[in-house]
Amino acid sequence: MSIESHLVENRIFQPSREFSKAARIGDLAEYRKLYKASIADPEKFWAKQAAKLRWQKDWTKVLQWKCPFAKWFVGGKLNVTENCLDRHLEGARRNKAAIIWEGEPGEKRTLTYHQLHREVCKFANVLKRNNIKKGDRVLIYMPLVPEASIAMLACARIGAVHSVVFGGFSAESIKDRLADCGAQVVITADGGYRRGQMVTLKQNVDRAIEGNAAIRRVIVFKRANLDIHIAEGRDVWWHREMDYVTADCPALGFDSEHPLFILYTSGSTGKPKGILHTTGGYLLGAQFTTKTIFDLREDDVYWCTADVGWITGHTYLVYGPLANGATCLMYEGAPNWPEPDRFWKLIADYGVTILYTAPTAIRAFIKWGDEWPAKHDLSSLRLLGTVGEPINPEAWMWFREKIGGSRCPIVDTWWQTETGAIMITPLPGATPTTPGTATLPFFGIDAAIVDDAGKELPANEGGKLVIRKPWPSMLRSIYGDKQRYKDQYWTEVKDCYFTGDGARRDEHGYFWITGRMDDVLNVAGHRLGTAEVESALVSHEAVAEAAVVGRPDEIKGQGVVAFVTLKTHAVVHADLKEILRKHVGEMIGPIAKPDDIRFADALPKTRSGKIMRRLLKEIAGGGGVTGDTTTLEDLSILAKLSKSDD
Ligand code: WTA
Repeated sequence: MSIESHLVENRIFQPSREFSKAARIGDLAEYRKLYKASIADPEKFWAKQAAKLRWQKDWTKVLQWKCPFAKWFVGGKLNVTENCLDRHLEGARRNKAAIIWEGEPGEKRTLTYHQLHREVCKFANVLKRNNIKKGDRVLIYMPLVPEASIAMLACARIGAVHSVVFGGFSAESIKDRLADCGAQVVITADGGYRRGQMVTLKQNVDRAIEGNAAIRRVIVFKRANLDIHIAEGRDVWWHREMDYVTADCPALGFDSEHPLFILYTSGSTGKPKGILHTTGGYLLGAQFTTKTIFDLREDDVYWCTADVGWITGHTYLVYGPLANGATCLMYEGAPNWPEPDRFWKLIADYGVTILYTAPTAIRAFIKWGDEWPAKHDLSSLRLLGTVGEPINPEAWMWFREKIGGSRCPIVDTWWQTETGAIMITPLPGATPTTPGTATLPFFGIDAAIVDDAGKELPANEGGKLVIRKPWPSMLRSIYGDKQRYKDQYWTEVKDCYFTGDGARRDEHGYFWITGRMDDVLNVAGHRLGTAEVESALVSHEAVAEAAVVGRPDEIKGQGVVAFVTLKTHAVVHADLKEILRKHVGEMIGPIAKPDDIRFADALPKTRSGKIMRRLLKEIAGGGGVTGDTTTLEDLSILAKLSKSDD
């Protein structure tokens, strides 16, 4: 780990007195007191918070814990959308903006809570009309338009289980996920806009479900006026269906442990994992963290820049803010369209007060130049947040000064698809911050750094980041594979949830996340399994074997480097590298395209045949091989690999 580089980072920023005074948690001592109590008796703590949600039937037991299987708020019944929508219709929030949306080409729409509620109820009736029932899985593949949220919420309203697939993923990815979750219905759009280009969503769906008789319905939202194929008897238009239904759809109560959604994420094997989240605990995590960590106020204009295809979009664009009755900005497109100041223009135009984004975006902004934010009035901002990867101090400082006017606190939030909600984070009115650290665990979260034997390590020693107690928004399983859930998260360290991340705690108890310890890459804040990219490469006819590693990348955090051996009789086109990159793009999605492909006669392996990734990482990073090579079967391979970069 890069301990030295962190140790020189000793700038400390206290929350401003003004911010602290108005904040929910106003000083560190208060945080520490509440945290201590929350860890001493988490069930009591969570029960108190959960009571603030609207339940149709009270729970009888806060937690039933049979490690590693948790049930929270046992026996309780609730409807997520009643909490996110109906509740707000009773008072002043009825006509408050819930979603302010801007399309990439510039269209503007605002949906009040009343309007959003109507749309969700109507679309829930569309789902019912199409014979979708409680427990059925529904795959959603949409551009970032309000209808993406509406589709998710409509599923939740009737107890259907949504699985959102990021609109940037390929037909092949949709196919895998459909097969795994067994969805029979897909909700999509004709297309969407991205950096001035059209994303052909419906066409990708068509390719993914070709010959798949299990898919009985595709509901298509008209976004881009694309000329698309409509399969008679299978495909229907969203707007036509909406004409057949009323807005009357009661919010039935579902069991607290009823599945809410499945979201696929990368692991260390080739097959993405369907992370399963359930109703009560997830909603509590989303609602309570959004309110506390973003210190949400009634008049905030809150903008989380994530797409609904990622967990950040689920928790902090849809469920968390809506459960708090917040006004959320949603922007469909790229940050540099038509110019690199689109974000700053949006902030000025809508008076955004809270901005939650990713370090990779910040690094891109730095590259594009200070003149772009300088052109706009960003004084409405009062709080900034980041998520997705460790933020380098330079980017943190730039964000603070150039965007936050040295006035806004920054919350560097650590969490995962699996955790459902933020786990380690500053509280903006209480926690002194230092660039590069996510600081302290959130209430009720028993995070620790341990060694291989599970023993907690002293300050500044690097180890495994684990969570020692269950928490409400934790994943419940990997969909359809309890054994994999156990193996993946609960066997590495006894009785603890292993995050897959390495970290250390400093003398103040602050967590410094150093990155993944397994074969998972973090490319532009998005998780990619090396094994996934490898299996995509090997599925190409010319490829015999592939090994994929990460290398540091200035903008994306990590770049993808692939070492590839070709089949003896492979026909080698001059542009084979480009062909393979394109192939990976088609199999997974453009984000997975290797930045660099190196052909080799052989890959470095141990005598037992295991690819020595450590060596490949060193080579990919541009440095020489420094580590131990005594277990390498054929030393001459290394020299060749180092040279083969053309
Ligand atoms: C990384 C995203 C350092 C980490 C919500 C984690 C971070 C993985 C941070 C989860 C942060 C996320 N500092 N690293 N603030 N936030 N990570 O599932 O490696 O897409 O395990 O969830 O991103 O990525 P995922």
